Amino acid sequence: MSTVTGTTTTGTNTSSSILSIAPKRDLSTSTDVRRLALQHVNPNVRKAKYAVRGELAVKAEEYRVRLTEGDKSLPFDSVIFANIGNPQQLDQKPITFFRQVLSLLENPTLLEQPEVLKTAFGYQQDAVDRAQTLLQEVQSVGAYSHSQGAPAIRASVAKFIEERDGFPANPQDLFLCAGASSGVSTLLNVMCDSPNSGVLVPIPQYPLYTATLSLLDAQCVPYYLEEHKAWGTDIDAIRSSLQMAKAEGTDVRSIVVINPGNPTGASLSADDIKSVLDIAAEERLIVIADEVYQTNVFSGEFISFKKRLRQLQHEVPGKYDHVELASLHSVSKGMVGECGHRGGYFELVGFDPLVVEQIYKFVSIMLCPPVIGQCLVELMVNPPKPGQPSHDLYNKEYSGIRTGLHQRALALYEAFKRMDGVECQEPQGSMYLFPTITLPAKAIEAAHAANRAPDEFYCLRLLDATGVCVVPGSGFGQKANTLHFRTTFLAPGTAWVERIVKFHAEFMEEYK
Ligand SMILES: Cc1ncc(COP(=O)(O)O)c(C=O)c1O
Repeated sequence: MSTVTGTTTTGTNTSSSILSIAPKRDLSTSTDVRRLALQHVNPNVRKAKYAVRGELAVKAEEYRVRLTEGDKSLPFDSVIFANIGNPQQLDQKPITFFRQVLSLLENPTLLEQPEVLKTAFGYQQDAVDRAQTLLQEVQSVGAYSHSQGAPAIRASVAKFIEERDGFPANPQDLFLCAGASSGVSTLLNVMCDSPNSGVLVPIPQYPLYTATLSLLDAQCVPYYLEEHKAWGTDIDAIRSSLQMAKAEGTDVRSIVVINPGNPTGASLSADDIKSVLDIAAEERLIVIADEVYQTNVFSGEFISFKKRLRQLQHEVPGKYDHVELASLHSVSKGMVGECGHRGGYFELVGFDPLVVEQIYKFVSIMLCPPVIGQCLVELMVNPPKPGQPSHDLYNKEYSGIRTGLHQRALALYEAFKRMDGVECQEPQGSMYLFPTITLPAKAIEAAHAANRAPDEFYCLRLLDATGVCVVPGSGFGQKANTLHFRTTFLAPGTAWVERIVKFHAEFMEEYK
């Protein structure tokens, strides 16, 4: 395995990129008169890949449109978008308290009629109070805020982190951002200074990382997760990837950890986290801890990298003092599921203040993250407390979403257990299952004949037959000679799961 520029060395067919669905033209023979022809597009943009919104998703959307237009020729009556963690697209209801406050922020004149809000629309006093407090802070959600995010909102986030971890957090170390994606982009932009800069990325991974490294023309240094150990981190695999990359001259600066995992759903133990921090301390690697699924944990408890780092700094004075950690969270996932609002934050620990200044300058070029998204971050980290008027409803909605997610994860897991040639780790967290599929040789031959990777062939056939859109494992990276697909367990009901089971049995029969 060697490092490659902005992609992985998994040796898989990558035709599920957006490029593969664009009309194919030979770059050298493009006769278009426009100044910006395909060959003029930044090559780093051209080579970036992002499978979760790739060919399958585009085809699924075409099917959805055909169904809404009354097309009766398809063998299914609905499309299930199990390709992307987009909770509210799949009927997850927004939390009432959040939306009540947001509505007041967007239209403050409503605050002039508090009684009407209460009697006619069920707003509680704490929703009204919170909107007033947030408006005092941001003045208007239509105004730019501080580039790092509104100070009082950062103070709320710091309080949340302190309560979560039991260690202090400083609002000055927090940067609010337009979703975790924007935070990751900021961090990688700032830390990759040449095509030789390398970042260790888990495989399988959420393709934001490989895509952003591609855009930056930097090196993705893949390290494989251990499927048979519930997709935990394999410390030897990290060390050997790192050594190999260093031997090839790559300047490896950082390690990304996604916990709980996407696409794997794994939730890391305190020991796994310590191992990563050990390597970071020994090899001087900046840790990027992507913790956007921190509330989607079904078994055990979520342990943040920040908490584990502070514990270790306390237990073993000296060794971990210089670890640099950036950890990210978002309003997109969990029971909040407000991904369309684009809110998130990252916390920096142990960074050089001169570097932080550069990060500040970088984010200020984009002026500020969406202010309504910042307000949602505040609501996420500071929800109604027991005894406050909105708490009961908040708690009921939150627990209902949580239980529903867990039940659907288990239903899907049970269905996979019934499917021949499918193996899946028990769901631990996040919003996804990532089963291994073992396909018959004839199916693999048919895939090659169709010029498709076998997992992609399988997923396309699944979509064509059932309307269920999942993502082939090759979109996330997978060990050579293994095949997977990723599905979310967000879609309501279980009928769609039975569609997968039926398709799978027929597919296996066809190619046996
Ligand atoms: C691991 C991981 N990180 C980051 C993101 C992006 O989150 P956001 O919507 O906050 O940009 C996602 C989205 O699916 C994700 O799965």
